[in-house]
Amino acid sequence: MEDDSAKLWNHRFKQEGAVWGIEPSPAAVKAAELFKKKKACGILEVGCAYGRDVEYFRREGFEAVGIDASEEALRLGKKLFPKADLRLGSLLNLPFKDASYDAVYGFFIFHIFTSTERKKAFDEMMRVLKPGGLLVHSVPSEKDEKFGPKGTRGSEGKYFTKKEIREMLAGMTEVEITEDLVNHTHGGTHIHADIYFTAQKPN
Ligand SMILES: C[S@@+](CC[C@H](N)C(=O)[O-])C[C@H]1O[C@@H](n2cnc3c(N)ncnc32)[C@H](O)[C@@H]1O
Repeated sequence: MEDDSAKLWNHRFKQEGAVWGIEPSPAAVKAAELFKKKKACGILEVGCAYGRDVEYFRREGFEAVGIDASEEALRLGKKLFPKADLRLGSLLNLPFKDASYDAVYGFFIFHIFTSTERKKAFDEMMRVLKPGGLLVHSVPSEKDEKFGPKGTRGSEGKYFTKKEIREMLAGMTEVEITEDLVNHTHGGTHIHADIYFTAQKPN
């Protein structure tokens, strides 16, 4: 990890350890139901941190791989979840072949990027998805009470509207976008407004 954002993440994991606890995120539990229904087995989690959701997918019987750009996160993940397949790498340049996953999943990763990076990240996720593969993410909503010029979540940035997500998913099918109040587990349990979306890459 060379850039400043990467250094910040390494620092955060070194200081705070398992920042979001070791239980799966609510989005992972919902996503697993969809993956089962759609018979998606090979799952890639982007920005997996120390792997709490990868571990959950693994325990649920999926072939789950997680990728994260923080060595510190992965070091922690190897201790917490020795059986989870966690790898070092960037969502902006995924080290995987085209069409290699049934689903790409991310929980609170997409919003940390600039708009140029988000385009690159989206293209990369589409590249590694098989035709008919699923894209599932949870991202912060503009309806969150922390949204605004002074709203911060550590090094995290972008808050989304459903319209922006719909535009980003324009080329996909089976698009579903929901906005909900969701329990988060960093700094004690509390509630954020999140957008959860699922979409299918055209066949
Ligand atoms: C908010 S955290 C994700 C939390 C995680 N999904 C969870 O809930 O357990 C954002 C993660 O993105 C990682 N990250 C930052 N830049 C990245 C990149 N270019 N590619 C992959 N991961 C990256 C950070 O190291 C951090 O673990």
